[in-house]
Amino acid sequence: MSKVKIAVLISGNGSNLQALIDSIEGGYINGEIIVVISDRRGAYGLERAEKHGIMTVVLDKKEYGSNEDLNKGIQYVLRSMNAELIVLAGFLTILSSNVVKAFEGKIINVHPSLIPAFCGAGLYGQRVHKAAIEYGVKVSGATVHFVDEGTDTGKIILQEAVPVMENDTPETLAARVLEVEHRILPEAVRRITQGS
Ligand code: GRF
Repeated sequence: MSKVKIAVLISGNGSNLQALIDSIEGGYINGEIIVVISDRRGAYGLERAEKHGIMTVVLDKKEYGSNEDLNKGIQYVLRSMNAELIVLAGFLTILSSNVVKAFEGKIINVHPSLIPAFCGAGLYGQRVHKAAIEYGVKVSGATVHFVDEGTDTGKIILQEAVPVMENDTPETLAARVLEVEHRILPEAVRRITQGS
């Protein structure tokens, strides 16, 4: 079976990207990361990709006049690389409906909560964990889902819960959730590339 061409979109540290790279190099995923696209120059995830010989493209949102132009750049790169699966791994730009439609059913995202809790516009990164702690939930977790034209509203693929401790801070909860992300994102990609 030919390897699925995977594009990974990042904005920062890239620990989820690293989990994918490790999983692919460990032989668990029938895929190849053909490009890593970052919307921020200097994102550490770019270094992670370069260390593994993966092509990187920076489409710095600060250098693009509009979100629409940035999305046109993203679509151009994805098309020219013939990407077959697009993974949003800590990617903070909202994809336009044109991009989502052009790659319908081929874009997945990892979100650091149990969707439909603590998701949607403005809830990303540490803000998610702060909201969960402030609400007083006893469990949180991570979700991998398909991306549709909404925000964090596409079909759920995998979820896994973690306990929220009395003395948790957004940072300690984030670290616990991130461990889950690093497991369920590669597993979701494995299942998709195996056709299951
Ligand atoms: C993660 O919590 C992810 O869920 C969120 O961005 C955070 C950073 O991810 N979308 P990474 O270390 O850049 O992969």
